[in-house]
Amino acid sequence: MSYLNKILYKILKVLPRSIVKLFSKRYIAGFNFDETIAICKNLNKQGFELTLDILGEHTKTKDQAILITGKYKDILRSINKNNIKANISIKPTHIGYDITPDLFEKNLSDLALTANQYSNFIRIDMENSTTTSGTLSAYDKLHKKHANIGIVLQAYLFRTFEDLKERQNDNLNFRLCKGIYKESNKICFQNKNEINTNYLKILEYALSNRIYVGIATHDEHLLSESYKLIKNLDVSPDDFEFQALYGVPLDKWHKKHMENNYKVRLYLPFGDDWYLYSLRRIKENPNIAKYVIRNLFKH
Ligand code: FDA
Repeated sequence: MSYLNKILYKILKVLPRSIVKLFSKRYIAGFNFDETIAICKNLNKQGFELTLDILGEHTKTKDQAILITGKYKDILRSINKNNIKANISIKPTHIGYDITPDLFEKNLSDLALTANQYSNFIRIDMENSTTTSGTLSAYDKLHKKHANIGIVLQAYLFRTFEDLKERQNDNLNFRLCKGIYKESNKICFQNKNEINTNYLKILEYALSNRIYVGIATHDEHLLSESYKLIKNLDVSPDDFEFQALYGVPLDKWHKKHMENNYKVRLYLPFGDDWYLYSLRRIKENPNIAKYVIRNLFKH
């Protein structure tokens, strides 16, 4: 992160939320689901598939966790009713992991049943490393009963390659991302080149072994290397998809993927709880300065 970007990010963090909201709009599909449906339909028309995420994490009470699980069920119904090409992505701590991992597992199981009714699929997002083992163990148990669940693996964690190999015979469908949380150097690569090397090692293993993988990155080097692997290993487009976050400028690559008949899925977050997610995205934007100034003038 450049020095100027670091300063701007620190300033943004202390500004009133109403101002940060102005900058968050690029990354958030809407503040409620009704606002989001039109965007979903439009993106589907452009050829994108979607994964919908209700913003929020670290839910504090059981009642709230059950309420949010209910909202996800409503979204699954609405996706079906509106004929939208989308599945859902869920954060474990949003549906109860912090209260007890058992509550998370129960809510996830309910969601898998609802998703099954609509022939849909749920992806469990991966949060910080205190939740990795618990999330994978809930997945391991539930996946035996529900085939329509997938996980996320983070290339920055030392453990990830083994986590993948342990689950490879299990009809696995996983998203591969770099990982966003601040983690200790005892468990995680810190350097970008090391993370990228591990990313490609994991990706090559998945593609060589026909493990379905969502290639989730905006890093042009990783995207180019993914293309080489797909070509050299002669991988069928049925065995992978590309994934990107809504609002991150990647038009040239999306166009290229679609020309190659590769599936592209956008991660579309929406809802009231936009603040922390937006800060993460703004922090990752290498052009924060330009982005902030342009938005200030626009508004
Ligand atoms: P990197 O951060 O190196 O960015 C590469 C380039 O992309 C940048 O140089 C810039 O040009 C552009 N870029 C990236 N972010 C930008 C932004 N916000 N605005 C403008 N330009 C930007 N993490 C996690 O821990 N658990 C999870 O479950 C998920 N889920 C997930 C789903 C999907 C679909 C994606 C794409 C990513 C995630 N992530 C995630 C986040 C992921 O771990 C990672 O933090 C970000 O994708 C950024 O890493 P990149 O691979 O894009 O590389």
